[in-house]
Amino acid sequence: MSSQLTTYQEHIATLQSRTKEALQREGLDGLVIHSGQGKRMFLDDNYYPFTVNPQFKAWVPVVDNPNCWLVVNGEDKPTLIFYRPEDFWHKVPPVPQDFWVESFNIVMLAQADAVEKHLPYDKARYAYIGEYIEVAKALGFDNVNPDRVMHYLHYQRAYKTDYELDCMRQANKIAVAGHNAAQQAFLAGKSEFEINLAYLSACGQGDNEVPYNSIVALNEHAAILHYMQRDTAVPSESRSFLIDAGASFHGYAADITRTYTNQDGLFADLIAQLNKVTLSLVDALKPGTEYTNVQLLAHEGIAHMLKNSGIVNLDVAEMIEKGITSTFFPHGIGHFLGLQVHDVAGLVNDDRGTPKASPAEHPFLRCTRIIEPRQVFTIEPGLYFIDSLLRDLKATPSSKFINWDTIGILRPFGGIRIEDNIIVHRDRNENMTRDLGLN
Ligand code: GLY
Ligand code: MN
Ligand code: MN
Repeated sequence: MSSQLTTYQEHIATLQSRTKEALQREGLDGLVIHSGQGKRMFLDDNYYPFTVNPQFKAWVPVVDNPNCWLVVNGEDKPTLIFYRPEDFWHKVPPVPQDFWVESFNIVMLAQADAVEKHLPYDKARYAYIGEYIEVAKALGFDNVNPDRVMHYLHYQRAYKTDYELDCMRQANKIAVAGHNAAQQAFLAGKSEFEINLAYLSACGQGDNEVPYNSIVALNEHAAILHYMQRDTAVPSESRSFLIDAGASFHGYAADITRTYTNQDGLFADLIAQLNKVTLSLVDALKPGTEYTNVQLLAHEGIAHMLKNSGIVNLDVAEMIEKGITSTFFPHGIGHFLGLQVHDVAGLVNDDRGTPKASPAEHPFLRCTRIIEPRQVFTIEPGLYFIDSLLRDLKATPSSKFINWDTIGILRPFGGIRIEDNIIVHRDRNENMTRDLGLN
């Protein structure tokens, strides 16, 4: 038996036992998990790109087929209702033959609205898990995405199975090929649009297959945290390049950022320093400690950089106390990674979903959980020169500690982020991104 098949079967066994526990908590016999439906654009006959229900792709690595259903009860072999219409307009998915088929009783569904005959008769004992509440109601389900079930399944998703860890290593491998190609395209003076094409081409994935909208930002655009445009024009000078781009494998995400410059000087020094901060924060991922602690350490690292480079004339503790580091690093240090790029259940205290909010000074932190083995995180410190935040800082008494001339020199470079993907093991951390040779 191939090792992928072994780990996949173990993965299914883990999902079965999680399902059993979730069902006991809610007093149910089973779950009916819907892959989703096509969504038509308003007043149009075109469809939005399909995004599968993450709870569906947790079981089956099928991410492109709407109108599929899973019936699971935590004990019996799950049933997969696989949509295969008669359709001469679109490609019909082939009869599945992949490594995963052995794990399911598979029935074919030729018409999306004929699913009822394959579903359990007594809907009162089952919950619908999916996005289409009106579909669930029409089919007779009263129990839709019950909180206790969702909280439990989401909480457990933080602990990745061996199969999932392998998928995430593969996603990193694909993304690293893309990042190498993108770096070459930047050095060759290409536009954002062309760099994005080089990235996608090296990944062999389209804009709708990568797990999130890639950020491909030259110069000042690197200061726009979620810059989604792709300028087709080549700038007169390409000084700096920030790329935040991932890849997918069997529905699992990679989420990697790199920043480059082709000029020597302070900005290049800052990239090198932030790279060291990233690596030291990866080392701070220790089982038993709070992820929030890594956020605090990140602010210390950024404060050291701002002091050493002469951007801020204050000691580290005072700089943090005055909130100055948040002007330059306004986002969270990272998040869970998995079936979703910002994977679920980062801000809860337990498997019942008791909220565990981020500290008030760090509102954008996406994870406050205790770090444990089998969790997968991003670590992504940044240092940016964002006009609106700098204006705010200038209007405070802290303005006098800032070297505005130096900031004037750095502004045209936009900003820096360096993001790696890390598996926490009991005795070590595995930096998937670096292990693949992306420096
Ligand atoms: N690419 C989104 C993020 O880094 O969180
Ligand atoms: Mn990212
Ligand atoms: Mn990220």
